[in-house]
Amino acid sequence: MSTLSEKIEQRAARIVIIGIGYVGLPLVVEFARAGFRVTGYDKDPEKVRRFNGGESYIEDIPSSTLGPLVQEGRADATCDTTVLAQADAVIVCVPTPLNKTKEPDISYILSATEEIAKHQHRDMLIVLESTTYPGTTREVLVPPLTRGFVLGQDVFVCFSPERVDPGNKHYGTRNTPKVLGGSTPHCLAVGQALYSKIIDQVVPVSSTDTAEMVKLLENTFRAVNIGLVNEMAQFSRNLGIDPFEVIRAAATKPFGFMPFFPGPGLGGHCIPIDPLYLSWKLRALKIQAKFIDLADEVNSSMPEYVVGRVVDALNDRKKPLNGSRILVAGIAYKKNITDVRESPAFDIIAGLKKRGAHVSYTDPYVPEVNEHGVHLRGVDPKDSFADYDALVIVTDHDSFDYPRMAREAQLIVDTRDVMRHHVSERHNIVGL
Ligand SMILES: NC(=O)c1ccc[n+]([C@@H]2O[C@H](COP(=O)([O-])OP(=O)(O)OC[C@H]3O[C@@H](n4cnc5c(N)ncnc54)[C@H](O)[C@@H]3O)[C@@H](O)[C@H]2O)c1
Repeated sequence: MSTLSEKIEQRAARIVIIGIGYVGLPLVVEFARAGFRVTGYDKDPEKVRRFNGGESYIEDIPSSTLGPLVQEGRADATCDTTVLAQADAVIVCVPTPLNKTKEPDISYILSATEEIAKHQHRDMLIVLESTTYPGTTREVLVPPLTRGFVLGQDVFVCFSPERVDPGNKHYGTRNTPKVLGGSTPHCLAVGQALYSKIIDQVVPVSSTDTAEMVKLLENTFRAVNIGLVNEMAQFSRNLGIDPFEVIRAAATKPFGFMPFFPGPGLGGHCIPIDPLYLSWKLRALKIQAKFIDLADEVNSSMPEYVVGRVVDALNDRKKPLNGSRILVAGIAYKKNITDVRESPAFDIIAGLKKRGAHVSYTDPYVPEVNEHGVHLRGVDPKDSFADYDALVIVTDHDSFDYPRMAREAQLIVDTRDVMRHHVSERHNIVGL
């Protein structure tokens, strides 16, 4: 243990990050800034090319930050798996999606682990950061990594969930506390030594299973609370009450209440997916995760609910959806980012089209999309909004000109309650 720990203390440990996407790239930058020599290993040659040209492809990392680190030789990227043989510490940041039947797809973790095992040597730290079900590190990583190596003596294995919140201006890698679990106490000690070089507060927990569960609790907490307010939004309308007004008023209670807001449906790589990793694991133990299943059901129904709001709002104006021109404002899954993964906008567009609407979209962050069966080029956000029968606000980007939308649009269905802050005259605006 001493050799590796000494290398870490002297910043002489060579770090390889597997997967240089939203999670991996910020880690490369932090470790390089802390004085380590870091290589990003990725299967995607386009990412590797851009990285080595000093060009960032993640909004939170400006090229002006990445570029100098590449130029000074502190960070580079490669598609060559043999770089793993030179690594002292390997951090795995590969995707963990769901397959078509909404079950965990851990194939990326499996292949990354096999690649590490092929190039493994004594005194190596391996940390998994991909979100996954409790038991993955112990059951999937440890067995192949301990063929001929003793856990806690010459191979050190940890799990540390990533908490990055893309677009968050206040919390980044360094000032977000980081939970860490080790396969043994020595594994934890080595992992803690490494992360303490780039994170202000490392939070050790007793096992890798616990660390895996922490991440799933955090995101299940969000999914369930969002499910609660989404259901409340639906029944509030039947009661003639504005759900957003209720939540804002409730949030004035200084204790015991935390506001969550309804919306058009969950999106992104985490909240819609992570809780299902847990419910899948529990199903194997014949346990039903009732809150998770219910939240998934309610949250998944929101795009269709939004389509229903559009149908009703047009109907009130004596118009059918069939044949109407609809502009969807915002296709990214949340505001001020380019990421469209799991965006509810796709289901909303599909639902509108299925009922005969002519659908366009506008999004300053996403000039065109070719995903989920939607092949569209976005309308310029500077174009007039007057030509559409309805404008559906799905993503509340700060840069949209909301007062102009209110002036020009015939009808606005505002799923984010964003117009409340921008206009007082609301005759053509319908809420979620
Ligand atoms: N994006 C977020 O906001 C966020 C936040 C917290 C946790 N996470 C979790 O972090 C993990 C990574 O997510 P991400 O958003 O960074 O994904 P991403 O798709 O942006 O990046 C993953 C990268 O891994 C590469 N890759 C896949 N398999 C590989 C392999 N075998 N060898 C080398 N490279 C490989 C891909 O080419 C890709 O560039 C996921 O488990 C996700 O749930 C993501």
